[in-house]
Amino acid sequence: MATLTVKELLKRAAAADEITVKGWIRTRRDSKTFSFAELNDGSTRENLQIIFEAKHGDFTAALPKLVTGVSVAVTGDLLAAPAGARQKYELHAKNIEIYGDCDPDKYPIQKKKTSDEFLRTVAHLRPRTNKYASMLRVRSELAFAVHKYFRDNGFFYVHTPIITGSDCEGAGQMFIATSLDLGKHAALPRTEKGEIDFSKDLFGKKTYLTVSGQLEGETLALALGKIYTFGPTFRAENSNTYRHCAEFWMIEPEMAFYGLEDDMDLAEDFVKSITRHVLENCGTDLELFAKFVDTDLLSTLKNVAENKYERIAYTDAVKLLEAANDRFEAKVSWGADLASEHERFLVENYFKKPTILYNKPKDVAAFYMKLNDDGRTVRGMDLLVPRIGELIGGAERENRLDVLEKKMADFKIDPQAYWWYLDLRRFGSAPHAGFGLGFERMMMLVTGISNIRDVTAYPRVPGCAEF
Ligand code: 4AD
Ligand code: MG
Repeated sequence: MATLTVKELLKRAAAADEITVKGWIRTRRDSKTFSFAELNDGSTRENLQIIFEAKHGDFTAALPKLVTGVSVAVTGDLLAAPAGARQKYELHAKNIEIYGDCDPDKYPIQKKKTSDEFLRTVAHLRPRTNKYASMLRVRSELAFAVHKYFRDNGFFYVHTPIITGSDCEGAGQMFIATSLDLGKHAALPRTEKGEIDFSKDLFGKKTYLTVSGQLEGETLALALGKIYTFGPTFRAENSNTYRHCAEFWMIEPEMAFYGLEDDMDLAEDFVKSITRHVLENCGTDLELFAKFVDTDLLSTLKNVAENKYERIAYTDAVKLLEAANDRFEAKVSWGADLASEHERFLVENYFKKPTILYNKPKDVAAFYMKLNDDGRTVRGMDLLVPRIGELIGGAERENRLDVLEKKMADFKIDPQAYWWYLDLRRFGSAPHAGFGLGFERMMMLVTGISNIRDVTAYPRVPGCAEF
């Protein structure tokens, strides 16, 4: 007797006797001579139809208990389903064991209560719905696609610290990570000025949860050549939007001897490749999203996977946007940081395909981006995609020590805290570039799900750290 997942079992070349499946009942219906139940075990979107017939066993006690959500093991014979059935096999039960009951009056996952907002309040149970199970399976496959892409292209996977002493983005959006008990106010060590004395903290200094592994990634790229990180990052920004989380996963490749052009080529190739991977490997789950979530999903994904991306310098994009200023809430002029409405206009209305915006003004860009010869723009780039706007932010890095030091002074960044980062420009400095792709935003793109809270199992957003 073999125990098989539904996915394995539906792939079988031939019917088989004495097969066991284990999973959760989705529905049951009874006729005079048979009962039918649909079982789902999470291995695939598809349910297995199970047929209970009195001539194969006594199910009178078990059947009434088979309500939505009950977990069971069923053993029986796997037979070809009749012509016209949804699947090629069905299981004719001989024996059933119930592991866990599920009170239908209390179980929150019911057909009538399935708004996304409601399901967020029961995030521990929503993976039992079709949509969230599909989301999690696609998420797993997409993560695999990321690793496969970089491994196939000669990159090394590195792990950068989660607790860090430096603010990569210089945006001051960091969560403090401390061993001091901030709740015990009176007992906290104090400096002479009365401030909390972080020199008494576990690390002997003030530390944070990382906003990006880039700076450490640069040090590793300037030793190994091509590296990438794929890990959690944290931002304490209080923005309640459809595309911001306080905790999200970021993929950050960093490449020695790459310039901005190479960086843009890699970003485009990477996004196309992982999109194709999902199209080729997540068929049944994508069908669900295309049917119930975003009817344009497959054409959007083809657009992302196949089109040559538009590339436009910031200064030229601003000219286009200025001409359309009457439709924007925030008016655009040279020097402004673009908002999602502007990004989406370029991608969705103007170019109608993914767009890479490069050469931003230095004042709205991070300190590490390489200064252009014009003295006012930097070699940074953002990759913008439909429905989301910014999916990737990246840059060629400033590799000249004197220029970087001046930049840091302009940004009021303490060079002492970045001594090791500056060392990279002292010892064998080389041109290099990289980017960061927000994994949840990529998930929004490939599933069509429109809120970032619904592409991760347990979203961390302002006001929500339940579970
Ligand atoms: O543009 P960002 O801030 O760039 C960096 O962090 C660089 N250090 C990356 C690099 O060059 N290695 O963030 C990169 C991407 C964004 O384009 C976006 O997709 C995602 O990370 N992102 C967020 N995703 C969800 N919630 C947030 N709060 C995000 N902030 C950024
Ligand atoms: Mg950015």
